[in-house]
Order: sequence, then structure tokens, then C-alpha cells
Amino acid sequence: MTTSRQRPIAKSSPATSRVIASPARETPAGGAPGMYPTVRMRRNRKAPWSRRLVAEHVLSTSDLVWPIFLIDSSTRRVPVDHMPDVDRVNIEEAVREAERAMSLGIPAIAPFPNVDMKLRDATGSEATRPSNLMCRAVRAIKSAVPEIGIITDAALDPYTSHGHDGVLDERHRILNDESIEVLKLQALALADAGADCIAPSDMMDGRVGAIRAALDKAGHQDVQILSYAAKYASGFYGPFRDAIGTNATLIGDKRTYQMDPANSDEAIREVALDIAEGADMVMVKPGMPYLDVVRRVATELKVPTFAYQVSGEYSMLMAAARNGWLDRDRVMMESLMAFKRAGCAGILTYFAPAAAKLIKAGG
Ligand code: PBG
Repeated sequence: MTTSRQRPIAKSSPATSRVIASPARETPAGGAPGMYPTVRMRRNRKAPWSRRLVAEHVLSTSDLVWPIFLIDSSTRRVPVDHMPDVDRVNIEEAVREAERAMSLGIPAIAPFPNVDMKLRDATGSEATRPSNLMCRAVRAIKSAVPEIGIITDAALDPYTSHGHDGVLDERHRILNDESIEVLKLQALALADAGADCIAPSDMMDGRVGAIRAALDKAGHQDVQILSYAAKYASGFYGPFRDAIGTNATLIGDKRTYQMDPANSDEAIREVALDIAEGADMVMVKPGMPYLDVVRRVATELKVPTFAYQVSGEYSMLMAAARNGWLDRDRVMMESLMAFKRAGCAGILTYFAPAAAKLIKAGG
């Protein structure tokens, strides 16, 4: 645009200058209603106070669930390769983490065990043992920090010698109904230990209904079920599998039970079935690449919908931040806000403590 500085003559002629500097004013008085220049979207963005007032979504510490990794060890913390700032912790330290979550205003944690290789077998029997690492950790956390929510996975992968979430036959097929029998016992052991919420992440058909019935029969009718209802066969789980030691054990892949990334109508069916079977809350996983699925589930099914910002999503943001390519705090908060905008009631994220700290500090 031509400016008055380039045309000094305009200075001595205010009328000309106005026309040159603001061509919009040439529009008939008032302009067309509902359109520029009457409407200027930037007005509401002009200052922080105004941007805060018109914000459609707010991220709070109450939206966060913090997944933590457990080890059975006298060593308190062992770093997870490929997940900067994430450690596997022993039970003592897990209690500390629960206290940290409480003080940061994080409502719940989701522990995952790295099980000793010697304890893994073909049917994942260690999962059902009341004194396994998870059950001991849940008991310790519940007695020290009773107000924190504890959400525990129902799936056999940390416990099986083949790394699958269910029971495998000689021909390497995952047996649906046999798996459910073990998952029920796993859920009962966790509920007996004090878990507040069981999160079936195995994707077997019918497991939510079977776990609900088993919990109710055992007097655990108040234990919730957060179903990993639309869980995709994803490459983004890589760092998690390192953290719990299943990359080393996994035979083949999980495509016969986890969903095809090409599908979202199928996600609606999966989620609707889990709700019908008694799921109190549902989850879409992974998170960022599947926000369209989150939006559809939240809008069409109207249930508390969660998303899991999984290990690979965390690692790619952290890797770029470590390289100085992205600003960690900005992309962390922006990605978490994206979940809220898509319709999430809450987000499972390894960023939970860092994000909660920022939120508490007013960032
Ligand atoms: C296993 C389970 C997985 C995750 C949570 N529960 C991995 C898988 O299905 O192989 C992934 C979480 C993450 O990547 O952060 N049932």
C-alpha cells in the first residue's frame, strides 16, 4: 500500500491521505451488514483481557490424567528411553508421584507395570495375582493418598510372553473369549486392591460387559469402567512398549483386535457397544491424529469422552523441543487445548505434571 511517508504531499492534504491510507473508507457509509469492514474479527483479539473473555474452551488441571510406569525394584527411578523426563518408578516413588499429582490438582493417575520377564507367560497369569506389582502399588497409593483417582488398565500385554493383550493359541490367533476370562480376574484383583476405575485397553469383543458383571457380582458396583473403546492399531505406541518391555516380546502386530486407522464409523459402533455393555466413560486412542473421532464420539454419543495423547505423540513433541525446533510449553498447551476443542472431558497425557504446573502458574 502507498503510505504518506512515500508521498509527502499527502501530509498537506488530509483528505487525500485518508483515502490512500484507508481504502476501506471508500465503501458506502456503514458497509454491508455482517461483512468487512463493519465486521472485523480481529477486534475481539486485540488484547489479552478480550481474548480471555471470548475463549470457547479452558484447559484446567481437572482435565488431566497422568500415566506413570512402575518397576519392581529397589532403584527408585529408571529413565524411559525415547521419552525425555519420563521415568519408571518403584512403589515408594509412585506414592510420591501420587502426592505430586494431588498437590498439582491432577484428579487421577494411570499406572502401567514393567513386569519382570520371568513372570510373563503365555496366558498372562501374573495379571490375576493379588500380590503383583500393580496391585501392591494400588494398595500403597490408596492408603497414602486415598483421594487420588487410580485408573488401571485391563489388558494382558505387560504379562504375556508374546506381548499380546490376550491369550494366544499355537497358530498365533488371539482367543477372544478365553482372554475375557483372564481379564475378568485381572479386573477383580485390581478392584480388590483399591483401583477406582478399570480401563479395558485390550479391544476384545464383549469384555466391558463381562468385566462389569464380574465387578458387580463381587460387590464392586461403584468401580467405574473407562473403556478404551476406539483404540487403533497404531505406530504411535512404540515408546510405551519400550517402557513396559513389550517391544521385545511382541510377536506380530495387534491388527486383529485394534482398529484400522482408516475407519471412524466403526469407532462409533465400538463405542456404542461399550456404552451398552456398561462403560461409564470412553476413550479414543491415540489422540492428536484421531481428533475427528473424538469429535464424532462426543457429539454423536454424548458420553464423557477421553483421549490418550500416547507415548509417540509425547516423544515427537519432546524430541523437537529438545532439538530447539519447537517451544515445548507452547506446543504442549496447544495440543492439550486441541483435545478440549475436539470435545474431550479429559486427556491422558505424559505432560500432565508439566501442564498442571503451567496452568497453576497462570500460563
Ligand atoms: C496396552 C496399552 C498400550 C498403550 C496403553 N495400553 C499399548 C498397546 O496397545 O500396545 C499405549 C500407550 C502409549 O503409547 O502411551 N494394552
